[in-house]
Amino acid sequence: MQAINKKLRNHNTVGGNCYPSTVVFINHHVFMHRKTVLLILFVFSVSLLPAQSNLITNIPSRKTIDLNGRWQYIVDMYETGFYDYRYKERQPADNDAYWNPDTTLNKSARKEYGYNDKYTLRVPGDWNSQDPKFLYYEGTVWYKRSFDFEKPKTPAKLFLYFGAVNYKADVYLNGKKLGSHKGGFTPFNFEIPDSVIKAKNNFLVVKVDNKRYADEIPTLNTDWWNYGGITRDVKLVELPAIAAIQDYFIQLDAANAQSSAIKGWVKLDNATAGEKITIEIPELRVKKILTATGAITPVAFPLPAFQRWSTDNPVRYTVIVSTSADRVEEKIGFRTIRTNEKQILLNGQPVFLRGISIHEEIPQEARRAYSQQDALQLLGWAKGLGCNMVRLAHYPHDETMTRLADSLGILVWSEIPVYWTIDFTSKAVLQKAKEQLDDMITRDHNRASIIVWSVGNETPVSTARTGFMKTLIDEARAKDPTRLVSAALEVNYHSAENLRSIDDPLGEYVDLVAFNQYLGWYGGTPLSCRTANWTTKYKKPLFISETGAEGLGGYHADSLTMWSEEFQEWYYKEQVAMLKRMPDNFAGISPWILADFRSPRRNHPVYQEGWNNKGLIDQQGNRKKAFYILRNYYAEMEKTHH
Ligand code: GCU
Repeated sequence: MQAINKKLRNHNTVGGNCYPSTVVFINHHVFMHRKTVLLILFVFSVSLLPAQSNLITNIPSRKTIDLNGRWQYIVDMYETGFYDYRYKERQPADNDAYWNPDTTLNKSARKEYGYNDKYTLRVPGDWNSQDPKFLYYEGTVWYKRSFDFEKPKTPAKLFLYFGAVNYKADVYLNGKKLGSHKGGFTPFNFEIPDSVIKAKNNFLVVKVDNKRYADEIPTLNTDWWNYGGITRDVKLVELPAIAAIQDYFIQLDAANAQSSAIKGWVKLDNATAGEKITIEIPELRVKKILTATGAITPVAFPLPAFQRWSTDNPVRYTVIVSTSADRVEEKIGFRTIRTNEKQILLNGQPVFLRGISIHEEIPQEARRAYSQQDALQLLGWAKGLGCNMVRLAHYPHDETMTRLADSLGILVWSEIPVYWTIDFTSKAVLQKAKEQLDDMITRDHNRASIIVWSVGNETPVSTARTGFMKTLIDEARAKDPTRLVSAALEVNYHSAENLRSIDDPLGEYVDLVAFNQYLGWYGGTPLSCRTANWTTKYKKPLFISETGAEGLGGYHADSLTMWSEEFQEWYYKEQVAMLKRMPDNFAGISPWILADFRSPRRNHPVYQEGWNNKGLIDQQGNRKKAFYILRNYYAEMEKTHH
């Protein structure tokens, strides 16, 4: 490698500018060193991979050290650990920098901060639910934990992997900054230089800041609690130094609904020319050996007879990808998802989406969900409702959720928090949205359950907005041509014919025309449903991504009494009757919402107290009356739309 680079460099200097000279170099000498030329081309392509998006996927199958547990913390409202009293950023050697490893608290030293077991937070977990002083806290908290590490016997690369940190994370190890990341719901990893990690007492510090800003994603205003902290798993990940499997996409070719051919790719890190990639599906007696063609090697091969993944039969096959130095495996289901003018087609068969929207929250403990058990509770509740689909709102949920949905046969709508009034005119904001979209897709693109990538929710119609959202839609299609793309659109009301039409310009570009409607709650009364008509100019399936009404759990009155469970029940009765009159391209619904959830926007002192109570399950986990109205409707739909 050094020799080659040196040679390259020499040529560069001779030729003046970089790449063109390389090209010249190849022409002159191509006949001389064919193998050398191939090697150079190959290493080049690998080294051109973008830095941050080198997300390592399928972490459960990697060699990892779990860094979850209790972390010491410092609350730092004024960011004193980051800025000095002149508000200048502290420099690496600054003794008062809170990432500085030397935290010995001895009486003689004027040290005005330190980490101590008196102050610890559980990781993963939001800080708001762990200590009442944090309930409303938005700001910086420094997390610190130490760990020992036995250096691998074979050459390896080490990474720190975070499932998610809300919102901005600055990560330091032994006083060295490894990197920063923004975005509260997508994973990221930083490589640890060999020189930084030690055998004993590694000092890992993460500065977490969940303050909201207008030019971030989400922006200042949302209808969910801004839970802060290291909210998902932290792992030390070890990859082989050469021919590591960075990522792979093993899915059915989406060219036709009955496709039975795999079409995808494998992405290697630091592979040498001629590296062999093996893809095995033992249960189908499939074993394919490919020669790597660059950082990303295309994969295409027919499958023998196999069972397609579906909601009734969520079959998954063990897929093993290996190289000379690395091996990962996971269970993948093979299915196709498409639409025609009126229907959503799962494996070519029409499917009606009996959905429910879900926030990533455990109401009984008013906290962010993060574990397998949490996912089991939430998806179990959805199954109890008779659902075959869930809309994970309004941000990518933990990977345990999507992997569990795969095994339970639940279809998933996954979304990035491009929510309400994002700054659609800003290129920087668009870049942030694209990164979150890329990471959402990269993490979960082998999940059979995920059928829809959503690029946003209730974004106000404007040229800038539609351009912004179209760019995201194109990005999603480019990254993953096998799934549907959508967004929760706005509705226009034409009073004359009491007709509501979904003619949002974004409808032109999505596969599924999805919209939120709260007829009878935000406008009208539940009676309004009796005369309401819905239509869209788009020849695409129609989907109601939200509808719902508040009902305080346990508050009972007559059905006309707002906030009561009976009112919410009535609301659903009228909605369900209306759904039976929807146009013939009506393909499903995901009402708002499975369970009550915390929201800083809901401040009725009796019926809300910081909660959005549109859940069909209340804060204690009890089913409300409306739960049964929807369940009955879904039981009917399951019979008629099987
Ligand atoms: C909106 C929004 C949700 C919100 C809901 C509500 O449509 O998408 O995030 O919580 O309505 O008002 O309850």
